[in-house]
Amino acid sequence: MKSVVLVALIALVGAFAFLLFRLPFVGSYQFSEDTAALQRGGYLVTAGGCVSCHINPDQGNSLSGGMALESDFGVFRVPNITPDISTGIGNWSAEDFVRAIRHGRNTDGGFYFPAFPYRAYSGLSDQDVLDMGSYLMSLEPVANDTGEHDLPLWIGNWMMAGWNLLADLEAEKPVAITDPVVARGAYLARYLGHCGECHTPRNSLGILSADQEFGGATIGESHADPINLDALHNWSVDDFAFFLFLGMKPDEEYVGGAMESVIAHNTSRLTEDDRLAMARFFKFEGPR
Ligand code: HEC
Ligand code: HEC
Repeated sequence: MKSVVLVALIALVGAFAFLLFRLPFVGSYQFSEDTAALQRGGYLVTAGGCVSCHINPDQGNSLSGGMALESDFGVFRVPNITPDISTGIGNWSAEDFVRAIRHGRNTDGGFYFPAFPYRAYSGLSDQDVLDMGSYLMSLEPVANDTGEHDLPLWIGNWMMAGWNLLADLEAEKPVAITDPVVARGAYLARYLGHCGECHTPRNSLGILSADQEFGGATIGESHADPINLDALHNWSVDDFAFFLFLGMKPDEEYVGGAMESVIAHNTSRLTEDDRLAMARFFKFEGPR
């Protein structure tokens, strides 16, 4: 009898481990060299804010990485995402790329740390991610070995299997928005622009509190202000769109801190239509 219970227990643990560690299914894909796809991809890489983290000023502002991101858990080194074969993503398949960006999984089947905002990017369409990948693959390869993260010994990336599961349980499925402009703004803000990664508060495990989306958060020494309807009651849609272009608030103060890089590398380079769509979303009073 005992052995039956034991076997059942082992099977249960095995099934649970399988669920936690299995590789997510992604379709079969190929990178494109089509000019339109590369152009779209370049725009999406800008709107995704990839540059803010992966830029390397020491190598001609290429995306060869090397920036050290300080966090409560240790220092993360941003990797090289140019198509260099040995130090970048040169030998990645399109499936590898989709698995990394939308599922936070590396080419060995291991897990990335959420210092890389893959949870926000999980809301992107595969097609958008593929276009980004095609664009990155078209760039000049730049060799730069960015080295290991500097983390305490007790932190292993496999722990992110459980963390992802907890984060899935905490997450709330957003309400479908029917206005196409507001929906575009939501896609840009929630997923591509990952505004919530800094502006939504987190619990003690670092998981975003879904019920306080854009409620403001403390990151290290600095504070990302709330950008919900309450906080923006004095901002018009045009104020918000203008802010995304120049970084100037309605009181004529310029924004500082980590937001400067968001404006410089991301929102100021978007089309006017996309900035307006984001503004419409942040000022949207319907259910979201
Ligand atoms: C907030 C900073 C940040 C932003 C924004 C960001 N990344 Fe990253 N990225 C990282 C970090 C840190 C890692 C390493 C994570 C790890 O090792 O666990 C990473 C890893 C990656 C990897 C895996 C590279 C490898 O060698 O394994 C790819 C590919 C990647 N990012 C692409 C992108 C793209 C494309 C975007 C924009 C859509 C983007 N990143 C935006 C910080 C960022
Ligand atoms: C890397 C972290 C980070 C990301 C990503 C980010 N922000 Fe910010 N944001 C900040 C910080 C920090 C501040 C406060 C800066 C300061 O103290 O001047 C800020 C300030 C702001 C403000 C000014 C609010 C006020 O009342 O003064 C707005 C509006 C804003 N961000 C909107 C956005 C939007 C929209 C996005 C997504 C496209 C975004 N932010 C993404 C960190 C971030």
